[in-house]
Parts: sequence; structure tokens; C-alpha cells
Amino acid sequence: MSTDWLQWHDAYAGLAGRLTAVQNQIERHLTNTNPDSVRVISACAGDGRDLLGVLAGRKDAARVSALLVEYDATLAARAREAAEPLPSAIEVVRADAARSDVYAHAVPADLVLLCGIFGNISDADVRATIEAAPELCAPGAEVVWTRHRREPDLTPAIRDWFAGAGFDEVAFVAPENETWSVGVHRLATAPRPFEPGRHWFTFLR
Ligand SMILES: C[S@@+](CC[C@H](N)C(=O)[O-])C[C@H]1O[C@@H](n2cnc3c(N)ncnc32)[C@H](O)[C@@H]1O
Repeated sequence: MSTDWLQWHDAYAGLAGRLTAVQNQIERHLTNTNPDSVRVISACAGDGRDLLGVLAGRKDAARVSALLVEYDATLAARAREAAEPLPSAIEVVRADAARSDVYAHAVPADLVLLCGIFGNISDADVRATIEAAPELCAPGAEVVWTRHRREPDLTPAIRDWFAGAGFDEVAFVAPENETWSVGVHRLATAPRPFEPGRHWFTFLR
């Protein structure tokens, strides 16, 4: 990996719209599922500001538990710090989020965040990750994902791959004057059994 992800997070302002769009989807999911408990998985979570920012503003945050997986030690530490005051049960693990084993104790999840991943891995790995996503999901779980739409725009293929993996599209937010997009897909078929020992993707930058 050559990208300085710490610096990327410090310059997040350019992606403020994307963050809001992701947080809106998390809010919607939590509101729709109230008062049930919600288990969240966030892969390549960064400092966790999307989920943790939402939880910080919710009175019902105690019903949410989450596993955040992030490779960078400083970002993982920031996530832990942000999670500390919350009533939610938040586990931050510093590990390779591409390895299925890291999720073994946290599946099935009701909400899976795959944000900031699909623009940094090969198209084949995007597809493999989407095809593996049902292994992380409880019945009816939602996956929130992001991807830029610079040419060649992969989002039409991504949406097809989610459909092929048994998901219905809940939302696709793609403002005309922006290059980011945020998608939400709900598992409409039976979840697939979790497979340990898999490696789904490799960051290219
Ligand atoms: C584009 S950022 C996305 C952060 C956050 N999900 C968001 O959308 O704001 C990508 C993050 O993935 C982390 N990362 C890259 N490869 C990883 C891996 N194999 N396992 C875990 N984290 C990884 C980077 O350190 C970085 O924090």
C-alpha cells in the first residue's frame, strides 16, 4: 500500500458529501430497525467516523454493537477513542479486513459497511468481495458501499454483481456534480454459510 491513509482522513473535507450520504443510510437503517438490536461490521473502517458519528447523535446507540476492522494503527486508535464514550459495544480490530477469519465471531451482521474499498482494489476483487458479502449477512441485512464514478465507471457492474449475489437495491446516491457514489443493497435471499480462511481483496494503492 502506498497511500497515506492518515493524511487521506485528515483531508476528508472533500468527501464531506459522501460521508453525509453514508451516514444518512446508517441513520435510515437504525431508525427502520428500532428497537431491535443491530450488529454492524465495518471493513477498512478508517477512524470509524461514519458509524461512530451517527451513534454519537442517537439516544438508542446502546442497541448497536459493531466490529470495525482497520489496518492502520493510528486510525484504529482514533476509532477506539471515538467509540469509548458511546454506550454501544464497539470492537476495533487492527487487522487485514480482506481476511474472512477476522469476522468469524461477528457474523451474521445486520449492517455491513464496505466504504472506501471498491475504488482501491481490482475489479475482480470488487466482484469477489460482493459475492462473499452474503456470508457476513443476517437475513435481510443491508450493505452500504461506496465507489467513485470516474471512467471507466464500475458502478453499473457493481450493481449487477450485487443483484447476482442475491441483493435488492435499496438506494444508489450519485449526485451529478460529484464523482462519488453510495449504494445500499439488502440481502433478499438466504445468507450463505460463512467460509473461514478466505482472502477477498488486496489494496492496490
Ligand atoms: C478510503 S479509506 C476508507 C475509510 C472509511 N471506511 C471511510 O469510508 O471513510 C480506506 C481505509 O482502508 C484501510 N485499509 C487498507 N487496506 C486494508 C486492509 N487490508 N485491511 C484493513 N484496512 C485496510 C486504510 O488504512 C484506510 O483507512
